[in-house]
Amino acid sequence: MAVLILLLGLIAAGYGASVLPEQVHLSLAHAENQMVVTWVTFKMPSSTPKVLYGSSPDSLSNEAEANVTDFLYNDIHRFVHRATMANLKGKTYYKVGSEGGWSKVFNFQSRNTLSTAERPLRVCIFGDLGVVNGQSMPFLVKAAENGEFDLVIHLGDIAYDLHTDDGRRGDQYMNDIEPLATHVPYMVIAGNHEDDRKNFSNYVNRFTMPDFATNLNHYYSFDYGPIHFIGVSTEYYGYYYDYGMEPVITQYNWLKEDIEKADSERDVRPWIVTFQHRPFYCSNENSKECSAFENRLIRKGFLTMPGLEDLYTKHGVDMGFWGHEHSYERFLPVNNRVIYNETGNPYDNAAAPIYIISGSAGCHSGHAWFDKKPVPFSAKQINDYGYSVLHIYNSTHLLFDQISIEKGGESVDSVWISKEKGHAPRTSLARTRRGIPFPPSESCHLKDLACRKSLAYNN
Ligand SMILES: *[C@@H]1O[C@H](CO)[C@@H](O)[C@H](O)[C@H]1NC(C)=O
Ligand SMILES: *[C@@H]1O[C@H](CO)[C@@H](O)[C@H](O)[C@H]1NC(C)=O
Ligand SMILES: *[C@@H]1O[C@H](CO)[C@@H](O)[C@H](O)[C@H]1NC(C)=O
Ligand SMILES: *[C@@H]1O[C@H](CO)[C@@H](O)[C@H](O)[C@H]1NC(C)=O
Ligand SMILES: [Fe+2]
Repeated sequence: MAVLILLLGLIAAGYGASVLPEQVHLSLAHAENQMVVTWVTFKMPSSTPKVLYGSSPDSLSNEAEANVTDFLYNDIHRFVHRATMANLKGKTYYKVGSEGGWSKVFNFQSRNTLSTAERPLRVCIFGDLGVVNGQSMPFLVKAAENGEFDLVIHLGDIAYDLHTDDGRRGDQYMNDIEPLATHVPYMVIAGNHEDDRKNFSNYVNRFTMPDFATNLNHYYSFDYGPIHFIGVSTEYYGYYYDYGMEPVITQYNWLKEDIEKADSERDVRPWIVTFQHRPFYCSNENSKECSAFENRLIRKGFLTMPGLEDLYTKHGVDMGFWGHEHSYERFLPVNNRVIYNETGNPYDNAAAPIYIISGSAGCHSGHAWFDKKPVPFSAKQINDYGYSVLHIYNSTHLLFDQISIEKGGESVDSVWISKEKGHAPRTSLARTRRGIPFPPSESCHLKDLACRKSLAYNN
């Protein structure tokens, strides 16, 4: 009996209750010669936790102390450790932990030693990957271990859900992806499934994106070779009724400044690529979703909340990646539902942003099907499970591939995106041309009772 009580006591005190590091993952810092590593323990280590690193597995002669946050969610304490490795010089070996227990030794290639002068940089991009039916997970891990990617971007909807089963689902996911995320930086953005009814607390606490201290992983940007990447939260919009309009406006003001600066630095970094969870457009069977109020809000704005599309178009965003729909869809250059397809090749010197949905990595809800009639600016629809790879060749050429894991890792859609030096998508035509009208949709957030009342919205 005493043993049983002791055992139950231990389980209640902290499942796992160990100082052994787990869920180890890398993320980019702003400085190109730095890398951030984040990990979890279930007990607070009694000696200083740190990362030990160096240029060979036998001489981890550098160290950096970790900041530790006690993240309490539904009675479980997770001690989240964050440390920054600095002055990196190429292939780096590292282990994390404390005197109470260390991880194994992992390795990665530091970003400042990767260059398009040597070979294209390869960015793996996907959204909507779960533990249940996580079809792409073993393929992604294997490809990362084989050195097929330099960077991974996950477009939201992670684990389904990070907070399920008091967060144990998130722990499992982060352990499953550890072989990939300890070898290649793993950058994330929140999807609707990251709302844990506690202001995205699991999402905020488990990751460390650039500017974490101020932006809490919700929005950030980073430079990567000739590309300026910008991650934006569509969930601030999607959940404004729960968490307020303030975050939407704060993010927008930040975004406006960031994108203006990037646009003024085209001579140094000619490409601007955005990523976010919810799409502006889609052709899925449930595509009413893409014209529904919440998505129109993200694209066009509502009340004091500005939308995103005008800003992306104004500053000539070259490409934008979206998840949320559990399929792959490539669009023609488009702004405000106007297609830009006048030249023989719309992807050369594109006149408007090129958007791609890559949300088919695999999750509990299975394949997403397409409408018989895709939206007029849709160029390709595929519903195989898989992921995308963006090959960054140089300042004038990008190669985009969609990989189907159902066809043995074969590319099922491949497009060159090219432009002359100095070109950025500028749609002066947008003002004079009318887009294809959207079907009518709701005009208030379902939960916004005041709005619905004011429009005498019925049912
Ligand atoms: C650790 O905390 C300090 C002080 O708040 C901060 O400056 C630093 O960026 C943090 N490091 C990481 C890796 O988060
Ligand atoms: C939720 O978090 C955001 C920051 O991401 C903050 O601005 C906002 O005030 C929070 N809302 C609530 C209701 O806690
Ligand atoms: C785009 O232009 C190409 C070449 O003129 C044409 O084959 C294709 O049908 C066009 N697509 C759409 C959706 O208008
Ligand atoms: C960029 O890469 C493309 C594809 O490999 C190549 O054709 C082109 O010459 C390169 N441009 C420069 C400026 O290196
Ligand atoms: Fe989603």
